[in-house]
Amino acid sequence: MAVENRAWPHQHLLDLERLSADEIRHVLSIAQRYESVVKNPDEQCDELRGHCVATLFFEDSTRTRVSFCRAAQLMGADVLELAGKGSSASKGETTIDTALNIEAMGANALVIRHNCSGAPHLVAQRVQIPVINAGDGRHAHPTQGLLDIYSMASHWDSDDFSNRTIAIVGDIANSRVARSNIQGLTSLGARVIAVGPPTLVPHCLESLGIEVSHDLDHVLPDLDAIMMLRMQFERLAGLGIASQSDYRMSYALDRSRREKLPDDALIMHPGPINRGLEISSDVADSKSSIILEQVTHGVAIRMAILKLLMVDAD
Ligand code: CP
Repeated sequence: MAVENRAWPHQHLLDLERLSADEIRHVLSIAQRYESVVKNPDEQCDELRGHCVATLFFEDSTRTRVSFCRAAQLMGADVLELAGKGSSASKGETTIDTALNIEAMGANALVIRHNCSGAPHLVAQRVQIPVINAGDGRHAHPTQGLLDIYSMASHWDSDDFSNRTIAIVGDIANSRVARSNIQGLTSLGARVIAVGPPTLVPHCLESLGIEVSHDLDHVLPDLDAIMMLRMQFERLAGLGIASQSDYRMSYALDRSRREKLPDDALIMHPGPINRGLEISSDVADSKSSIILEQVTHGVAIRMAILKLLMVDAD
């Protein structure tokens, strides 16, 4: 039975590994329906009126946190926001106890970001309400993967990725964004090339069904999209490079490398950007860059996920 004709079979969204290609495509089609609401908030829908979405962010965020709040508000939900800083986590309260307390106050879904890989999974085992992983350690960032895929599908006006080649460039070893994109894109049949220095892009990544390259200039002419990743110094990525200038010389997307890409290749970055390190400002702000479109699409994707887990779930 097609996904659209049956209840959504997942209580939580913890990673993209558990979603089939058809389910990913279904998320994209629901997000597309919400695009007009994102662009014209007067069209605000009421599907979550009377529901409460709680965001628990134990790690900093701009895009993910605000866009979940925006998505929930556009659907008529109340939003409870708790940041790790300033919460009773500083007094030793565990993440699970924090989540149980927020559930006890009437939240109907929990959106959790945590610096420990697996934290949202542990919470999901203890609460009765849907848990959405908003980024856990080096593990997964499923809504980022979905919004990146949605952004590409929107530009190509197709969710058929079987003839598409996408490079993910940079600090793959530390990147939950890369992991979720790799899961989603390979599931849709895309050719994915992870590019970066051997310390940050080891050949064992090939076991995920992708290619590995240490030569960015070589792969550029083949690409339909290039996704630049932030060097995650907070996760000690700096130990994997000789120096920032050395990294820039081999892997930064600057104007001269931009010219080696096909003219219609999409330039992407999940944010936040280290301007002048992994991407130059002129390329980040160029016509080929869809970085801010990714952010706008993030709201529609998060609306789709809230609907699937809070309204359509089994
Ligand atoms: N892309 C992303 O997760 O950004 P934030 O850390 O600002 O949420």
